[in-house]
Amino acid sequence: MKIGRTKAVLAAMMGLTLSTFATQPASGSTVTDPITSDPVVTVGSDSDIGSLREEAAKIGILFGSGAIKASDSIDDGRPPNYLTDPDFARVLAEQFDSVHSENEMKYRFVEPQQGVFDFTGPDRLVKFAQEQGMQVKGHALITTCCDPQYLVDKVNDPAAFRALMTKHITTIMKRYKGKMDRWDVVVEPLSTMGGQGLQHTDFYNALGPGYIAEAFRIAHRADPTAKLYVNENLVESYPEKRKEFYDLVDGLVADEVPIDGVALQMHETLQGPPAGVIIEMADHFHAKGLAVSISELDVHTLDPVTQAQIYGDVVTEALNAGIRDISTWGFTDKHLYTWLPGAKPCLFDENYNPKPAYFAVRDALRAYGRKVQASP
Ligand code: XIL
Repeated sequence: MKIGRTKAVLAAMMGLTLSTFATQPASGSTVTDPITSDPVVTVGSDSDIGSLREEAAKIGILFGSGAIKASDSIDDGRPPNYLTDPDFARVLAEQFDSVHSENEMKYRFVEPQQGVFDFTGPDRLVKFAQEQGMQVKGHALITTCCDPQYLVDKVNDPAAFRALMTKHITTIMKRYKGKMDRWDVVVEPLSTMGGQGLQHTDFYNALGPGYIAEAFRIAHRADPTAKLYVNENLVESYPEKRKEFYDLVDGLVADEVPIDGVALQMHETLQGPPAGVIIEMADHFHAKGLAVSISELDVHTLDPVTQAQIYGDVVTEALNAGIRDISTWGFTDKHLYTWLPGAKPCLFDENYNPKPAYFAVRDALRAYGRKVQASP
């Protein structure tokens, strides 16, 4: 007989996965080693281990998943409506308490023809979230991709471009007022590798650098209750880009633009961010009175052990930095999105089994809870 940890942890350590959380043993019970069939006695009280959303709730944070596709369209090259898969819907509802869209709220998907909106996907996502007691974030009003031709055609006519943008943002935000509590207003304003200032997107080309402030002001008028975020990638990895991001956001705050926070995407590849950088960023923005969130965490490695380490380290440092809103970019490798061939970036595998990364994240949430309890 072996003295072991829970079956789930044991399986994860062995590189195995479990098909369901219902198999979690009660405290002090005997289970069977999935490889040797030996009986394994669990140690300590594990019956209080919750799902990610339960552990997150214990410490008063949101733990969500973005990249949830609910639309029927396959125009974005992805399969239709992931929510029709009962396992997808079950694990999402069990583990996460916030959701946001993959592509269907991006400009040309949500307003494919001028003035003609397709709200099928976002409406479905909102309904699902309401049924499951989840928050919904709006992703996203302005992105670097996905502008429809009728908008691009107006790049040299700023007044017409502005009118289209105003109608677009206002229509969407009014529809989801009270249903989507926070928004990525502008995604990836800066050049990808940093050092080149703002990306010359259609919005920049039409309206100049002031397009960002304009978009926030329009969004705030449409729904004054919504929390408005600027979303950026790679700032944890490139110091020059990070400095540009500070300057951009600080400038918006100084100009009294109605911005509530920053959304750090945090798509990690092979190596995690340098230790301390999340705290540095959080301190910077918190000092400006802004909320800081991690909005699209995933880890693109070829090795599940490194992946688990990076996930766990990021969540631990984020919690220590006072970040209270963390979302991953999808949660199952069945619908993975990666730029590293062969990488499987999510917390669950293709069959919805939790990976070592899942347990690392859950451990990080629980360790933070213990730390808070122990502190006076
Ligand atoms: C990605 C989608 O997941 C893909 O399906 C699409 O082909 C490209 O965009 N940062 C973001 C997301 O804010 O909107 C991006 O989503 C991934 C990077």
